Amino acid sequence: MSKKGLFITFEGSEACGKSTQIKILAERLSASGCDPLLIREPGGTAAGEAIRHLLQHAPEGDDLTPEAELLLFAASRAQLVREKILPALAAGRLVICDRFLDSTTVYQGVARHIPADETARINAFAAGGCLPDLTFLLDLDRKSSLVRMQASARKPDRIERESDEFFEAVRKGYLTLANNNPERIFLLDASRAPLEIASDIFEKVQIAVSLGL
Ligand SMILES: Nc1ncnc2c1ncn2[C@@H]1O[C@H](COP(=O)(O)OP(=O)(O)OP(=O)(O)O)[C@@H](O)[C@H]1O
Ligand SMILES: [Mg+2]
Repeated sequence: MSKKGLFITFEGSEACGKSTQIKILAERLSASGCDPLLIREPGGTAAGEAIRHLLQHAPEGDDLTPEAELLLFAASRAQLVREKILPALAAGRLVICDRFLDSTTVYQGVARHIPADETARINAFAAGGCLPDLTFLLDLDRKSSLVRMQASARKPDRIERESDEFFEAVRKGYLTLANNNPERIFLLDASRAPLEIASDIFEKVQIAVSLGL
C-alpha cells in the first residue's frame, strides 16, 4: 500500500500533555478543513483495545514479564498499522497517534532493560516499515509529572505505578532518542503553557503539510 498522507506521533512520559496537545492540534486542523484520524496505543482496534486492558488494568497482566509486555505492545501495533494507519495514509489522510514505537524503545527497551537490538527488531517487524514522518516529544520532569497525575482523579495503570528510577530512565531514553533522530523527533519543553506548546506544534505541522512530507 503506497503512502500519501502524513503520520504524526506524540510521545513523552505520564501526564506530559499528549492528550491535551492532540486535542488542540485536531481542533486547529479541523478548523483549517483537515480531518485527521486520531488513534492511540496500545489500542485503536478491537484486538488492540483488549490488549490495552490486559497491559494496563487486568489482574491477568500483573505478572507479565518484560518480554511478554513488549510482544503485547508489538501485537497491538501490528494490528493498528495494518487495519487503520496504512489504509488512512494511502487515502491521503493525516494520522495522529498517541504513542507509537518510540514508547517501546524507551519503556520496554531502556527502562525494562531489553537489549536495544531485540527491541528494534521487534519494533521493525510490528510496524512493517510504517514510521512516523514527525514525532512530538513532550519532555517533563518526574516531579511535575507526579503533580499533574495527582491532580487528575484517574487511577494509575500498571506501568504508571512504576518507580521514580523507572521514569527517570524513560525520560533519559526519550532524550537520547530525540538526540539521535533530530530530523524526525521534535523536542518540546512540556512545562510551558499548553497554548504556547500548541503553537510550536501547529507551526511544525503546517510546514510538514506544505512540504508534503
Ligand atoms: N502544559 C501544561 N501545563 C500544565 N498542565 C497541563 C499541561 N498540559 C496538560 N496539563 C494537565 O496535565 C494533566 C495530564 O495531561 P494529559 O492528559 O494531556 O497528559 P497525557 O500525556 O495525555 O497523560 P497520559 O500519559 O495519562 O495519557 C491534565 O490534567 C492536563 O490538564
Ligand atoms: Mg493521554
